[in-house]
Amino acid sequence: MRTIVVTGGTHGIGQGLVEHYRARGDRVIAIGSTAVPGDDTIRADLTEAETVRGLAGALPERIDALVMSAFRYSPVRAETAAGLEYTFALYVLSRFLLVEALLPALERAPSPVILSLCGSGAGRPPRWDDLQSRRGRFRALDTTLRGAYANDLLGTAFPIEHPSARTRYVLYNPTMVDTGLSRAFDGPTKVLVDVASRLFATPVPRALPPIVRLIDAPPDAPVTAFRAGRPTRVARGADDPASALRLTAALRALAP
Ligand SMILES: NC(=O)c1ccc[n+]([C@@H]2O[C@H](COP(=O)([O-])OP(=O)(O)OC[C@H]3O[C@@H](n4cnc5c(N)ncnc54)[C@H](OP(=O)(O)O)[C@@H]3O)[C@@H](O)[C@H]2O)c1
Repeated sequence: MRTIVVTGGTHGIGQGLVEHYRARGDRVIAIGSTAVPGDDTIRADLTEAETVRGLAGALPERIDALVMSAFRYSPVRAETAAGLEYTFALYVLSRFLLVEALLPALERAPSPVILSLCGSGAGRPPRWDDLQSRRGRFRALDTTLRGAYANDLLGTAFPIEHPSARTRYVLYNPTMVDTGLSRAFDGPTKVLVDVASRLFATPVPRALPPIVRLIDAPPDAPVTAFRAGRPTRVARGADDPASALRLTAALRALAP
């Protein structure tokens, strides 16, 4: 029996993975900000750095797989209690802090893996002088795409910062999956996203098998990127070690 932690395990792709592994008899712990807490479900707002760090003490001492699927599309600019832009805090900072906090538990497993569900390969480089999207009009899609690139950088940084880790880091872009994407919108945009989902999005059960294969048999390389099950490259420039370490330094400074 393996122990699998799934952030965002209460909805969408994360929930699909939770159900898959529970049915298989593994110990699965789901994390969501509105979840009803229970033996195997934790309510935690991952935009709070201290909450993320505290999870290490609430989770088992050995973790075989960490799936990072928590995400929320924020159409307007919102800030966390610490004054950070919401998408950045959840999609970027929380993933970095969670990996740092749970790495000791992962390293105790025989074949540990981190699988980060993100937009690998499709992002835009960070605006280094405006990581909190304070300047100009807030554009939610742009902020999300910069978060996707930052996730690629986190993958690049991982083996540099943890050269002796056995844990494998997998960046996984599921492409469009029907998880109720229109929830974040209203008016004509909601209708458009609904129609696009019906036409182009993959149902969750069909999106899961390639993800499950990577969790069950992690790749040999320390960091890899996949797009809908196929190997891909991280976004252009996101394999640059200097940029990757610049990001992790910025994240450490934001949540010392
Ligand atoms: N679906 C797609 O088409 C698509 C495409 C490309 C990439 N992805 C990536 O795949 C991942 C999963 O996407 P999805 O569509 O399956 O997501 P989803 O259905 O919207 O589910 C998001 C999950 O994140 C949790 N969450 C949101 N804010 C949180 C917070 N502050 N703290 C803790 N948990 C929080 C939600 O639970 P609560 O509401 O209880 O907090 C929920 O369980 C995301 O990282 C996304 O970037 C998805």
